[in-house]
Amino acid sequence: RKIIIINGPNLNLLGRREPEIYGYQTFEQYFEILKDKFSETVDLEYFQSNHEGALIDKIHEVGFYYDGIVLNAGAYTHTSIAIADAMAGVKTPVVEVHISNVHARESFRHHSYISKHSKGIIIGFGLRGYDFAVQTFL
Ligand code: DQA
Repeated sequence: RKIIIINGPNLNLLGRREPEIYGYQTFEQYFEILKDKFSETVDLEYFQSNHEGALIDKIHEVGFYYDGIVLNAGAYTHTSIAIADAMAGVKTPVVEVHISNVHARESFRHHSYISKHSKGIIIGFGLRGYDFAVQTFL
């Protein structure tokens, strides 16, 4: 099974960015653990970009033949009709992930444009949310 984790803006700073909210681990460290954990069953890839268009290009690129997309669109979750449209336009199911519990935070984080096009949503479980999301595709 081919599964890709796509992280949006500012998630390249995980481990350094507001660690009291997002934790002290870098995503690169966590990704290695995850890749190992699922290595028997999953061909796991990782892509990160701070650019909306690059995220859309990646969704198009993988969205007709990968088995699953795990997407944390960061702040674009709350703003991007374009990413929502990209998800609506492809075949591969998407699981939406948020590291923090967005519903316990500012009200502008309560609405997601992308949830409507997600197979399911995992919110507030830290980096483990990515692990849970991958499992939903097994
Ligand atoms: C986030 C929540 C978003 O509101 C925020 O803009 C992020 C990260 C999360 O994983 O908790 O960048 O998606």
